[in-house]
Amino acid sequence: MADIKGAIEGRVESLLDRFTSALRLGDADFSSVVSEELPMSSIGEWLQLPPADYPMLRELAHEQVFTQELLPSASQLARSDVATDQLRNYFTALVRDRRRAPGDDPISAWLRTWDDLESDREAADEAVYLLALLVFLAAPETTATLLSTMVWLLLEHPRQLAWLRAHPEHVPDAVEEVLRFDSPNHVISRVATEDAMFAGVHIEKGSMVHLMVGAANHDPAHHIDPGTFDIHRKAAHLSFSGGIHYCLGAPLARLEATTLLSGLLRRLPGLPGLRVSAAPVWAPRVGFRRIMELRVATS
Ligand code: HEM
Repeated sequence: MADIKGAIEGRVESLLDRFTSALRLGDADFSSVVSEELPMSSIGEWLQLPPADYPMLRELAHEQVFTQELLPSASQLARSDVATDQLRNYFTALVRDRRRAPGDDPISAWLRTWDDLESDREAADEAVYLLALLVFLAAPETTATLLSTMVWLLLEHPRQLAWLRAHPEHVPDAVEEVLRFDSPNHVISRVATEDAMFAGVHIEKGSMVHLMVGAANHDPAHHIDPGTFDIHRKAAHLSFSGGIHYCLGAPLARLEATTLLSGLLRRLPGLPGLRVSAAPVWAPRVGFRRIMELRVATS
């Protein structure tokens, strides 16, 4: 994180420059100008992917995640399959390239680590391909949703936004409350490895269990007045899951969100009356939520 912090700060400033320029012409879509760009460039720079590939990769990520939906339709699964094939081609070629010309990037480092453990090069390449694909797919969609949801909720709560401007040291708390209030992933799925009783429900070995994370974050037994967005609460949440599968990218997502929010707060004096100018447009999804458009304007 320390290595890429500076690059993220620079990227946030240039995206906010672009956003403020767009606002001079009228209302602007925060989602496409900022939220969709920052996570893609962060993961892209970290994995050292060519920036020219970002738009294509972002589209493939949007298509692929249908497979994680709660009840995907046949046509959504077909779209996901097409995207998965293209991503497989892209990331297997990438692993091949890094094998041929290793560098100081994480994929080359994973190959070196795997080679130390595994004499079978093909098995190592397959493992590293799967890891690179997982890391890539987990990053841009979820984080883009967090960034848009954060700006939407804070603009809809101007008193809390004004308080935060005066107390920027509480930016991390605000990000945690956004994650609790409307988690980018509302569903985490598991397959039971054995018969189990859980909260009075019998779960049969082999059956799929969907854990409704968004609902858990609003459990009145754990959160006072859970339907109220309140950046002052210090609430634990399950938005990054828990246990051995706890999100590997949580520090990166938090770094992007806190850097962006701090940058936006600093610019607020130059953006008088910044407000949401139309209801956000959500993709009709539960698993990986996505704000497709977030129009904002100044007065
Ligand atoms: C706000 C943004 C993000 C959210 C809400 C989020 C959410 C999650 C959740 C809920 C899981 C657990 C899934 C499960 O238990 O089955 C997870 C796992 C994971 N996430 Fe994230 N994630 C975010 C950003 C990222 C980023 C930026 C990266 C990559 C740099 C990333 C990489 C991963 C990986 C590799 C796993 C799998 C960990 C494992 O199974 O051991 N995530 N994430």
